[in-house]
Parts: sequence; structure tokens; C-alpha cells
Amino acid sequence: MKIVVIGGGPGGYVAAIRAAQLGAEVTLVEKKYIGGTCLNVGCIPTKVLLHTAELFTTLQKESEDLGIKVEKFDIDWQRLQSRKKTVVSQLVGGVNTLLQSNKIKVMMGEASFLNRNQLEVQLLEGKKITVDFDHVIIATGSKPFILPIPGGDLGGVITSDEALSLEEIPKSLLVIGGGVIGSEFASVYSSMGTKVTIVEALPNIVATMDKEVADYLAVALKASGVDIYTNTKVEAIERTQRGLKVNTVTKEGNKSFEVEKVLLSVGRKPVTENMGLEKIGIKLNGDKIVTNKRFQTNVSHIYAIGDCRGEVMLAHVASAEGVVAVEGIMGKASKIDFKTTPYAVYTKPELAAVGMTEEQAKEQGYEVKTGKFPLYANGKSLIMGETNGIVKYVVDGKTEEILGLHMAGPRATELIAEGALALRLEATIEEIITTIHAHPTVGESLHEGAHAVHHSAIHLPK
Ligand code: FAD
Ligand code: NAI
Repeated sequence: MKIVVIGGGPGGYVAAIRAAQLGAEVTLVEKKYIGGTCLNVGCIPTKVLLHTAELFTTLQKESEDLGIKVEKFDIDWQRLQSRKKTVVSQLVGGVNTLLQSNKIKVMMGEASFLNRNQLEVQLLEGKKITVDFDHVIIATGSKPFILPIPGGDLGGVITSDEALSLEEIPKSLLVIGGGVIGSEFASVYSSMGTKVTIVEALPNIVATMDKEVADYLAVALKASGVDIYTNTKVEAIERTQRGLKVNTVTKEGNKSFEVEKVLLSVGRKPVTENMGLEKIGIKLNGDKIVTNKRFQTNVSHIYAIGDCRGEVMLAHVASAEGVVAVEGIMGKASKIDFKTTPYAVYTKPELAAVGMTEEQAKEQGYEVKTGKFPLYANGKSLIMGETNGIVKYVVDGKTEEILGLHMAGPRATELIAEGALALRLEATIEEIITTIHAHPTVGESLHEGAHAVHHSAIHLPK
């Protein structure tokens, strides 16, 4: 079985490895960088910057309280940039080794369809070659969505790609779009001393998360000096002598901001153009590739996974889809349980969620019970000096099956795995209550939150 994977991101490279494990002859075509957006300009480099930002803020604001005497310290931006490059290249190197050890043929070049059975690859080294296949998996990912507003293309208006590698820390930054990317970069740069303003069209930042949980982040960002304007839309950007002027419309009227840099983080769009998809009759919805639940397009031997489907744009989802697509091709039908998809935002406090929010569960007709436990009552959070957070369960009132878990606080992005497993196993709240959690851990708050569904949290006053 000859499988060609187009795109070497977490969708594509995982699909390629799984296909090789199952005995396929695999070619991976990648036009820019193995590891895709995630390893090169996404998940990994952002978290390197966030890690330093968090340590720096902790030392700045809490060292005295933690009993650490710190004389003089500062951010070494150039050093941090080189650490970011080292981490990225180490991980990309690791992926290359895995591809090699699985005997996957890697072609560095851009692929497009000649017909339903052949691809053309414009190799980076210059040559054009034709590649035959039995199956193709399209995993071409996504790119930043550029707002079609006047001045959207001015110098100094950047996307996440450039925001990761600025030559120096800007004095001021206006973030258009307070979603995941906007909030993570607001955390990075406000920690580094930049005056950050977030402009968000919706009533809340990180609006995909449970509002009560996302509010913990909004409050923390404001406390660290970030100005947040919700219900606000950007109309135009102009160049001025001092930098950039951003004109917005708020509920109260027009408002302008003068800043050094503007970050556009208003979503991402699938990369599906110039690939001959229309020519071979692949069904698209706008720029998204349409697939069935096994990630087959309407041309049944051609599959699409990850960000290019334009659904949930997360690395772990792209990888999971890649595995299911390959197993389908190799006759080992498996399926994906999207309800277990964890969402994680690496700010301070971290936010994490799995399953339905309270509003979603009510909209679906559930009689909902919730259980909440604030982290100020959790010993480990107090030890860490990070009590700004909450655990919130959403539970089916009739069967007590867990429908969702939402968290703000330290290690939330790690602890959400317990919620994902609970949903996978269709666990009831009683099954969390009767699971012993280690002490002292932030994880105990998951235990207490479960008790709180029955109004029986031990460490909350009656
Ligand atoms: P990609 O990773 O985008 O890979 C697609 C690859 O295909 C690219 O390398 C591209 O060069 C290649 N390609 C495209 N067209 C062709 C062609 N015609 N021929 C050959 N190759 C081609 N997700 C998380 O889960 N956690 C995070 O913390 C996180 N942080 C993020 C931070 C930022 C700043 C950004 C931008 C994204 C982040 N994401 C995060 C999202 C995550 O990066 C994506 O969901 C993930 O990379 C999608 O994987 P993919 O394989 O579908 O596509
Ligand atoms: P997003 O969809 O999370 O947020 C975009 C925000 O911009 C929304 O809140 C939207 O209301 C707002 N917006 C849109 N148009 C606007 C306008 N004209 N004016 C003001 N606000 C406007 O998209 P984002 O942050 O760009 O991230 C893209 C994807 O990358 C996400 O879907 C996410 O899946 C992925 N990602 C994941 C991360 C993680 O898992 N930690 C980190 C970063 C990105």
C-alpha cells in the first residue's frame, strides 16, 4: 500500500509514522519545515516564551514571599530567542529521527494534484517530480487569518509567526482578538514589560471557554496591567510618526490607540489553495476540506486531517485524526471520540477544559448539576502561591455522568487529562469521589470539586 502524506505537522508526521507501523510504504512531502506550525511557529515556541515569562513574573512579584533573595535579574531576550530555537530544533530533529527509523521517505517540496492518482512535487532543490499513490492524506494545516481592514498589511502589524521572533521586546502592543493566541501573547509580552492592550469583538476573552473559568484569566491579565476592551471592533490601522494608530468602535463610541506593534490574532484559515483540489473534484466548504468521520474526502482514497479541515485546530486533534485516517486505510477501522478533546491555554492562571460547558449542556436539554471548588482552599495551590483558580464540573443531573470539566489554575493543562479520561470512560461523579487523590496536590481540587456536586466538599465551610 503506497500512502503519501502531504504536510509534516503533528497531523501529517503522526499519520506517516502510524502508516509505517502498519506496514505501508510511506512518503511524506513537506514544503517548509518538518514539525509544521506546531513545532516551528506554534505550540512549542510559544510555550518556551511562556515558561520564561511565568518564571520571570514569579521572581518579580513573589520572590520575597517565597523566601528568595534576588538582587538583580532581567530578561535576556536574545538568550531566550536562542533557547527557543534550540528547543524547536531538538524536537524537529527528534521527529526526523522517528521518520527515518520508520523508513519513511521524506521529500522536501510542495505537492499538488495532477489527477486522482498522481501528485506533482516541486522539490525545494529545484526539480519537479511525479509521485504515484494508492492513498493520500492531506495534512496541509492552516495559516493566520488576515483581517481585511485598511492598514491590516502595514509594517508593524504582525501575526503570531513574527510575534515569536521580534528583534526586541516592544514598548507597546495592541492585540486584535482575545482568543487563545491573543491571550498567550498578551501573557508573554505583559510579563516582559510591554504595555499590552487586547481588543476583542465578543463580550469575553477566550470565549470558547466556560465564562466563569475564563474570567479568572481576564481578572489576572487586568491585574498585571493588560487593558482589555471587549465588545470592541477594529476598523482601521494607520501609520503615525510614533508608530501605529488603531481605530476601534466600542459600545461607548469610537476609540483610538497609539502603539508600537499590532498583533493580529483573529483566527486561522486552512491551507488548501494551489493544490489542484478543485481540479480533482475534492469537496470544499469555503477553504475547508470536507470529510466524513473517518476523514475521507468525497474522493474516497484521498483523506484530510487536522487544521486543513478547519474544525478544531489543535495539534493533538490533528494527530488523533491522522491515526484514525491511517487505521481506516489499513483496514483497522477505528474512530475518534471528540468529546474527550482537551483544550488548554498556557497563561497564568492556566485554563483547561474538556466536554460541555454548563450553557452547552443546558442547551442540549440536560438537567445540569455543577460542582465548584476554589483553589484558595487547596493546600498545594497555597504552597505554590497560586490560588487564583477554580475547578468546575458539569454533570448530568439525572445519571450524574460527567459532561464537562473546566479549570483555571496551576497545572490545569496537565490535570485536564483526568477529565478527558473520565469522559472517555463515561464516569459518574461518584467514581471521581471514590478515587483517592494524592496529598498535597492541585489534583485534590478535582476530588473536592466532585464532592462539591453533592455539596459535600470537605475543605469548604458549610
Ligand atoms: P500544521 O502543523 O500547520 O502542518 C502543516 C504542514 O503542511 C506545514 O508544515 C506546511 O508547510 C505543510 N504544507 C502545506 N501545504 C503543503 C503542500 N502543498 N505541500 C507540502 N507541504 C505542505 N495547538 C495545540 O494543541 N496546543 C498549543 O499549545 C498550540 N499552540 C499554538 C500556538 C500558536 C502561535 C499557533 C499558531 C498554533 C498553536 N496550536 C496549538 C495549533 C497547532 O499548531 C495546530 O493545530 C497544528 O499544528 C495543526 O497540525 P496540522 O498537522 O494539521 O498542520
Ligand atoms: P481564536 O478563534 O481562538 O480567537 C480569535 C478571537 O478573535 C476571537 O475571540 C474572536 O472573537 C476575535 N475576533 C475576530 N475578529 C475580530 C475583530 N475584527 N476585532 C476584534 N476581535 C476579533 O483564534 P486564534 O487565537 O487566532 O487561534 C487560532 C487557533 O490556534 C485556535 O483555534 C486554537 O485552536 C489554536 N491555538 C491553540 C492554542 C492552545 O491550544 N493553547 C494556542 C494558540 C493557538
